[in-house]
Amino acid sequence: MLTRTGGNNMNYKLQIEELLGQLTLEEKIDMIHGCGFFRTKGVERLGIPGVVTSDGPMGVRMQFPDDSWIPVGKTDDYVTYNPSNSALAATWNPELAYESGKVLGEEARGRGKDVILAPGINIKRDPLCGRNFEYMSEDPYLTETMALPLIRGIQENDVAACVKHFAVNNQETDRMAVDTYVDERALREIYLPAFKAAVQEGCSYSIMNAYNQFRGHFCSESKELLDDILREEWGYDGVVISDWGSTHSTKGVAESSMDMEMSVTTDFEDYYLARPLLEAVRKGEVDEACVDAKVRNILRMMFRLKMLGGQACERKQGVYDTSEHRQKAYEAAKEAIILLKNEEREGERRRVLPLSPADLAMQPVSDAAGKVISARKRRIVMIGHNAVYHHAGGGGSAEIKALYEISPLLGMKKALGGNVEIVHAQGYYIPGKKDVNEVNWQEASLERRVMGEKDPDSEEQKALRKEIEENRAKLLQEACALAKTADIVIFVGGLNHDYDTEGRDRADMKLPYGQDELIRALLDINPDTIVVMHAGSPVEMPWLDRAKALVWCYFSGMETGSALADVLLGKVNPSAKLPETFPVKYSDTVTCKNGEFGKEGRVEYKEGIFVGYRYYEKEGIKPAFSFGYGLSYTQFSLKDLKVLQAPDHSLKLTVQVKNTGDRAGAEVIQCYVSDPVCSVERPVKELNAYQKVFLQPGEEKQVTIPLTERGFVYYDVERKAFVTEPGEYVVSVGNASDNCLLQECIVL
Ligand code: BGC
Repeated sequence: MLTRTGGNNMNYKLQIEELLGQLTLEEKIDMIHGCGFFRTKGVERLGIPGVVTSDGPMGVRMQFPDDSWIPVGKTDDYVTYNPSNSALAATWNPELAYESGKVLGEEARGRGKDVILAPGINIKRDPLCGRNFEYMSEDPYLTETMALPLIRGIQENDVAACVKHFAVNNQETDRMAVDTYVDERALREIYLPAFKAAVQEGCSYSIMNAYNQFRGHFCSESKELLDDILREEWGYDGVVISDWGSTHSTKGVAESSMDMEMSVTTDFEDYYLARPLLEAVRKGEVDEACVDAKVRNILRMMFRLKMLGGQACERKQGVYDTSEHRQKAYEAAKEAIILLKNEEREGERRRVLPLSPADLAMQPVSDAAGKVISARKRRIVMIGHNAVYHHAGGGGSAEIKALYEISPLLGMKKALGGNVEIVHAQGYYIPGKKDVNEVNWQEASLERRVMGEKDPDSEEQKALRKEIEENRAKLLQEACALAKTADIVIFVGGLNHDYDTEGRDRADMKLPYGQDELIRALLDINPDTIVVMHAGSPVEMPWLDRAKALVWCYFSGMETGSALADVLLGKVNPSAKLPETFPVKYSDTVTCKNGEFGKEGRVEYKEGIFVGYRYYEKEGIKPAFSFGYGLSYTQFSLKDLKVLQAPDHSLKLTVQVKNTGDRAGAEVIQCYVSDPVCSVERPVKELNAYQKVFLQPGEEKQVTIPLTERGFVYYDVERKAFVTEPGEYVVSVGNASDNCLLQECIVL
């Protein structure tokens, strides 16, 4: 079992005070603000190096000069591209999160970084949030249990994790200023638990404050979030780093618990915590003790990272781009791909997936006398821009220069070799798609809107619409003509980082580029068309009833194409589960109903704790796919649920799980808890625990899962504490939130 602690929690009191006593005010101030986009100054005469940070969540970002957002552009910053957090969460496998963290930490150190600005652990409150692909889940427990091992993996390499964005940062619209109002219970039950666990149990050496405001105050100087909750209540002694450009005043920030100011502009000496602070301290407007407190935290982190003194000789050196890292990226990707639909083929008793060797074997061609004279290759037609597109270089600060990225088309071609013909058609038209490396978005990221709005009636826009229609029709026709010649049709579409991106939310949940029309046309031609969606967040799928096979891969890293091919070809049995609910349509979401998402100015989280499945279950709204859902090529049976209470009052469950099919596979046993009678309104049920179980065909195991307190406790606003009310609770166990057939009542 994985341990939860993420690092060295020593506090180095004496050494810190000794160094602090030798630092001048100017030197201390140099240590608490950026002197380059990603680094702070050190103090050479005392052997204190600067702190070097880097994004990001899917790999170590490309190298930038200190003062320009044009990447250095050399060839030494290609890296391993890990699955995004959404993909990782879909594995429901904390071991993989640990391995992924190890890769990230080792590569960060290998690239000479001290802090890696990851993981992003905000809750997916609304499907349209542009950064959902960087986040894990709508559920705090799943987020926490995947984030902790990830942090541990990073920090074992003497690199600090930087969990972000603290807190209640759940939309990109007006992200620099939006003021979020969330009630105390939702804050404690939904939005804070993963952060609390990350700092208390995961010992994340650093944390990044969010851009937004929280209850009327910027997060960078929120007394409530940073002083009262983070430092006082949670006892955090790590470093709080500002999101890049999230600070708004000298005195406010100096006196807050934020320690290190970073931004996107080059006027480093004018940052709030630079010269303006020096002057304020000299004038007696800010107490030098505020500076000391920040320097203490930074020095503590440096000691923990072995950056100071003789221990620097023992610091891990890291390494990047190893074959072991690429193997780990593959291992994670293969458990991140979710099989959402797999029905029987048209007129046959077998399912569409996996494709069997017989589906792909050469076909003998005979002459009139019946003599085999040659062989015909099977023809797979892959349609869609996402079959060939590389995603690593987009999305905002999560962009990286991947050493390589196996596209779905390459994945299939390299797996099948020369005896199968695989042809590709783009299928849908993407107007003005720029090479992601040409776009320099971060420079403009402090502006209220990254993208200007265009006048729809301008001649330019009319001409653009005409161009789109013409190109769309042409590509659709071409794709359909090819599909008619195919033995197997695979559509690979979805979103890309023009949609799943930092700085902008999606306008709706629809598939862009006319993909719905194209998918319908392909299903008309070949009802067994395999639909693969490559996207960071859910989309409406109005053709869903007609699609027999649907595979979902988020952004699954450099090995996406290999893993996808292995799933389609049955070399890998899919075992991923949705870490979020996929609603049928956007209007089903609570945030759409109450109009409290994506607004500028003030956003009220009126839904309270009813986020994701907690809302759909309360209202009885049937989603397209429920939280925790995902199919396998084999079947599992679950029986004999028992909930046992130990003398120390801890609870655990046991359940018999059997692989009743003919393939090895893995099932995620999910345990939810309900409190049917309570003095406050409770969700129908809440995820309490889970475990991924690997079984050979026919194999049966008794699984023991310790229960946690989720679902048993709620946050009592009056008492300011989590409480358990005595009474009856229901423990439900199954393989998806809407498929928990085993239930057991217990009385506490
Ligand atoms: C993002 C952060 C990122 C930082 C540095 C900001 O725009 O919100 O997540 O780490 O930039 O690139």
